[in-house]
Order: sequence, then structure tokens, then C-alpha cells
Amino acid sequence: MESVLISGGTGLIGRYLAARLKEKGYKVALLSRDLKQETDFQVYHWDPAKSKIDPAAVSDADYIIHLAGANIGERRWTRERRKLILDSRLKSGDILLSSVSGNIRKPRAFISASAVGYYGAVTSDKIFYEEDLPSGDFLGETCRKWEQSADRFEEIGIRTIKIRTGVVLSSHGGALAKMAIPVKMGVGSAMGNGKQYMPWIHIEDLCNIYIMAIEDVKMRGAYNAAAPDRRTNKEFTESLAHALGKPFWFPNIPAFALRMLFGEMSDILLKGSRVSSGKIISAGYSFKFPDLGNALNDLFR
Ligand SMILES: NC(=O)c1ccc[n+]([C@@H]2O[C@H](COP(=O)([O-])OP(=O)(O)OC[C@H]3O[C@@H](n4cnc5c(N)ncnc54)[C@H](OP(=O)(O)O)[C@@H]3O)[C@@H](O)[C@H]2O)c1
Repeated sequence: MESVLISGGTGLIGRYLAARLKEKGYKVALLSRDLKQETDFQVYHWDPAKSKIDPAAVSDADYIIHLAGANIGERRWTRERRKLILDSRLKSGDILLSSVSGNIRKPRAFISASAVGYYGAVTSDKIFYEEDLPSGDFLGETCRKWEQSADRFEEIGIRTIKIRTGVVLSSHGGALAKMAIPVKMGVGSAMGNGKQYMPWIHIEDLCNIYIMAIEDVKMRGAYNAAAPDRRTNKEFTESLAHALGKPFWFPNIPAFALRMLFGEMSDILLKGSRVSSGKIISAGYSFKFPDLGNALNDLFR
């Protein structure tokens, strides 16, 4: 039985992915800062901020999936928060790398989360492809350094894949749950001018892409993970209202109000371009939920 270690496996994506991997017959273990997790999986302890890790975690792993990192959309991006968002991704990568480097038996692949924020918070008609350069803004820089840190695994001979993820749609929390609150109250509306694109992916498709990255030895490098049905914020919110059987007529939430509430973090709500799903489709992936309406109906079933 092949084993998969998931860092940050206690979060939104990790929990779903761990269950899917188990169903597929993998032995799954999680790396967490807190051993008191309610989970059926084996949990190894680490503390990336203090460069501490249980060495047994990595020595057992055939594959490492690296999801850990302070949540990007949870709090205002103060100077301390920005530092935590970046450090939590880089320091955790460092400790995984030094742990792996010290072992004779190396994992077969290292698969790291990244985000479509790589291309920056910008609203345009451009479609971004994997070969495009990273943006110089906070998210672009964060993703660039996060991916660079993952690339060091490739340098020591481990197949490395980076999954540039759009907004993950799940029925268990994350952005969709937050967006659904006003819509359920009948006051859902677009944000800012509503023209910003919102690359999205159903959590099941995302987890299938992670599993494909484990199993398809031809995969390496960066892949966008966003559904081919590209919607603006206004179109997205309208579809959400439709899926929930709620009205959609409220005036847009003005950009300045979101800026006052969330500061620069409002960029992730107010800006966005399209990203291509062509590379992952050409690699052989077939989306189970290519269409937003079907994805939402499935999640709110
Ligand atoms: N969800 C999305 O829409 C989305 C979109 C694009 C990219 N991503 C990326 O995909 C990854 C997983 O996303 P997710 O939604 O599952 O995130 P999540 O629910 O916030 O979970 C992330 C996990 O990382 C660990 N973590 C949190 N703060 C940390 C810190 N300061 N140092 C080390 N570990 C820390 C936590 O595990 P413990 O508390 O157990 O240690 C947490 O369960 C993240 O890196 C995220 O940026 C997510």
C-alpha cells in the first residue's frame, strides 16, 4: 500500500483529499501543529515556525502533498499577517526539504498547493497560462516564492508538481460558505463592479487533480486548477442565488466599503482575470464539474 503524507491535511482541502485517497487504497497520514485532531488518520506533529518535525512522518511517505499555510482570506493583511502567510509556506517547505534530504528513501513526488494569485490581483480580459510570469503584487510574490521553495524538491531528483488553485467550492466551508450567507438571506449581490473574474473549482475536481499528480508520472511543473467555465463575480453570485432559489436584485456592494472592511485583502474579492484550464485537460484530466451551475447544484443538493 502506497503512503501519502499531507501537510496541513486538517484544513478544508486536506480533509476531503485524505478521505478520497483512503477510498483509493492509499495509506494517509497528516502533518499538523496540533496532535489533538479529530481524525481517523495518523497525525504526525510538526512546528514549522520552530523548525521541528517528527522524523517518522517523512521517512514513511511515498508522496508528500504540501497544503500547509496560514489562511490567505481569513484576516486583514497587516504586516504581521503578510509575514505569517509567507513564512508559514516557506518555513514548512524548508523543514520538509531538510527532512527528506536526510533520508536515503525519498518520496516519489512532492505536490505543492499554489494559487491562481500567482498571476496577480488584476482584472483584465487576458487569459493566464502556466508559462506567464508571476505578478509583483503580494499574492504573486507569495506564490512565486512558495513555488520556488517547492522547486528545490525537483532539484534533488523528486518529481514536483505545483497546483495553482482557483477558489475551491466545497459544502464544508471556505469561500463558498461565506458567499452564500447574504445570498441565503435574500440580499446577495455582486462585489465592486462585478466584472472581475473568479476562477473556481469544485473540491472533487481539485482532489482528483491531486490524485492524478500522484499517479501520472508524466506530470511535473505548474498546472492551473480552475474549471473551464469562467465567470465574473456578478455571474457567479447570480448562479449562486439561482442554485439556492433566492433573488438576485440587490445593488452591488461598493468597492470602497469592501476596502474599508478588509483593507488590501479586498483585492481577492475585487480583482481577477481568467486562467486557462487547457494544460491539465491536455494532460488527460476530464472535469467532473466543468459547469458552475452543476457544481453549485451538487454542493447545495
Ligand atoms: N481553499 C481555497 O479556495 C484555496 C485556493 C487556492 C489555494 N489554496 C491553498 O491550498 C492550501 C490548502 O487550502 P485549505 O483551504 O485547505 O486551507 P485551510 O483550510 O486554511 O488549511 C490549511 C492548513 O494549514 C495549516 N496551517 C495554518 N496556519 C499555519 C501556519 N501558520 N503554519 C503551518 N501550518 C499552518 C493548518 O493545519 P494545522 O492547524 O493542523 O497545523 C490548516 O489546517 C493552502 O495553502 C491554500 O492557500 C486554497
